[in-house]
Amino acid sequence: MRRLMPGRNALSAADTPKTAEPRPMPGHVAVIMDGNGRWATGRGLPRIAGHKRGINSVRKITRHAKARGVRYLTLFAFSTENWLRPKEEVHGLFDLFRYYMRRECRTLAREGVRIRFIGDSSEMPADIQSMMVEAEGMTATGDAMTLIVALNYGSRGEIVAASRRLAARAAAGEIDPAAIDDAMLAAELNTADFPDPDLIIRTSGEQRLSNFLLWQAAYSEFLFVDRHWPDFDEEAFDQCIERYRLRDRRFGGLRKSG
Ligand code: IPE
Ligand code: IPE
Ligand code: MG
Repeated sequence: MRRLMPGRNALSAADTPKTAEPRPMPGHVAVIMDGNGRWATGRGLPRIAGHKRGINSVRKITRHAKARGVRYLTLFAFSTENWLRPKEEVHGLFDLFRYYMRRECRTLAREGVRIRFIGDSSEMPADIQSMMVEAEGMTATGDAMTLIVALNYGSRGEIVAASRRLAARAAAGEIDPAAIDDAMLAAELNTADFPDPDLIIRTSGEQRLSNFLLWQAAYSEFLFVDRHWPDFDEEAFDQCIERYRLRDRRFGGLRKSG
């Protein structure tokens, strides 16, 4: 097993200060919460114990991101490819999701956190679909931060569905195919209501997107952290923010300073 060294990430060229002034806080942070299984097996525990422990990190990071002034926090909770896992693990994850929703919704509402879901909820168990609708309703007036939970989410599927809708509208003569642009496609995605992520963090040392926010990540900054999700805490989050703030985002143009 590869050993991960908490907090000991070598600084890459991207992380050496280039701007005279640190950048502002990221408005939207998205996290690929990875490494729950390895956290557990490394301790001789069943994988589901890692998922359970991962919920603590969800609570901690949600509260902390809000305290730091992050406006949107997206958490990748279950991918459309995660159905490939053994049935017991999928069911175990769904049970933990039920547990989290039952315990956390009221707290989120009280703390002004609005919850939104992205992904194909129609394939989720019916009771979970009801919980999702209820949670979105219960937290709808929250204006401190929006917590976006990606559940049964896959970015290629999302882009395909958006394309299909635009094609249907074009075939019906409602829109001119030549008029389809970035904004029209973005408006058909699950994320239509949200800005693109400024920062995407993946825990556990893996360096890939795994079908997460492919369109939306066009100009996101990436941070890959050598820590499993259950070990990812407030301090690790702050380190990510500090590294992000040293990045020089150019969006294809030229450097503004430094
Ligand atoms: C992330 O942890 C949680 C989900 C994908 C649901 P993993 O379950 O992927 O943990 P590893 O990557 O196997 O360690
Ligand atoms: C991505 O992690 C999905 C979530 C974090 C929910 P995976 O563990 O499923 O990704 P791969 O299979 O290692 O690429
Ligand atoms: Mg994984």
